[in-house]
Amino acid sequence: MRSFASDNYSGVHPEIMQAIMEANEDHMSSYGADPVSAEAESLFKGLFGKQAKIFFLTTGTATNTLILRHLCKSWNSVICSHDAHINVDECGSPENMGIKLMLAETKNGKITVDAIKPLIPAEPDVHRAQPAVVSITQNTELGTLYSVDEIKAICDFAHSKGLVVHMDGARIANAAAALGVSFKEMTVDCGVDVLSFGGTKNGCMCAEAAVFITPELGKDFEYIRKQNLQLISKMRYVGAQFKALLTDELWKRNAEHSNALARELAEKAGAIKDVNITRPVEANGVFAIIPEYAIEKLQERFPFYVWDDQTGEVRWMTSWSTTAEDIENFCIALKELICRAAPLPLPGKRGCSTNANNAPREKEILN
Ligand SMILES: Cc1ncc(COP(=O)(O)O)c(C=O)c1O
Repeated sequence: MRSFASDNYSGVHPEIMQAIMEANEDHMSSYGADPVSAEAESLFKGLFGKQAKIFFLTTGTATNTLILRHLCKSWNSVICSHDAHINVDECGSPENMGIKLMLAETKNGKITVDAIKPLIPAEPDVHRAQPAVVSITQNTELGTLYSVDEIKAICDFAHSKGLVVHMDGARIANAAAALGVSFKEMTVDCGVDVLSFGGTKNGCMCAEAAVFITPELGKDFEYIRKQNLQLISKMRYVGAQFKALLTDELWKRNAEHSNALARELAEKAGAIKDVNITRPVEANGVFAIIPEYAIEKLQERFPFYVWDDQTGEVRWMTSWSTTAEDIENFCIALKELICRAAPLPLPGKRGCSTNANNAPREKEILN
């Protein structure tokens, strides 16, 4: 199966699988006290500073939820975007842990200082949940990117109000590669306090990290991780994945590849009649409106999600293992489906070229 449903549909990158195999030698201390995890931790410190406190976990949902639980007292709340994964796609996990989310209006998935302002009471009010955290996602759930300046502005404002900033970086590698900046420039230097660093979508098997850039905030996180079932006994296998991902910039190679193929997909699919690319393609996600009649048939060949049932907007994700051939085959299938069902074009209008069997000529399809 070749899929555009999620970067999670891809397998494990061979360099990461190799690292897992290499870590599979001999006995090693458990629960993270092994040399492989120590090496991975020091690679993280090289990226985010010696002061950073690093904890390995296995899912992005657990990483986000446990960080937020750790940062909030029972009366606190977290400001995030309407479209945030923590709001939409974590099965109410933050709420289940007692975290109140306050939703900021967004455009293309990004919150702004102006959207956050009305959610912060001018004076502390005993009747209201007190915002303690602003959580942003980089890159966003809608495939867009915060610029370094936008992140800095949010951090400066949040700090001026006594709030801390969490970044959901499930796809942080795609963001850094797309912006052409280091992880540090996009987080530490902007004032981000805590990061959920995603490895899984970028070629790992199950490797996520809570990175407390502001180290005091990470104090005692090990207890909440253990209580909530995320202290992995054979931690070396998570450490090995990160060791490989952060060596020789594998993270960047993977991210640049998936970003480039998303741009190619948007360009080729966007050139097909009746396909409208709906959002800026800034990382490895492409959003589009295509004729409704083509959706299910196309999904049978290439799974992908309908993102918005109301508008029919669909999402196509690329990954480290998407190929140029995947894009070509997908676009051929898409154009074929659209052309078969579409009425004949008016003279002089852009349309589909068909042969006697009403099947489009494949050579022309991508031109
Ligand atoms: C923005 C974002 N955050 C976090 C996650 C982590 O999810 P999971 O718990 O499936 O690893 C995802 C996965 O789709 C995501 O897209």
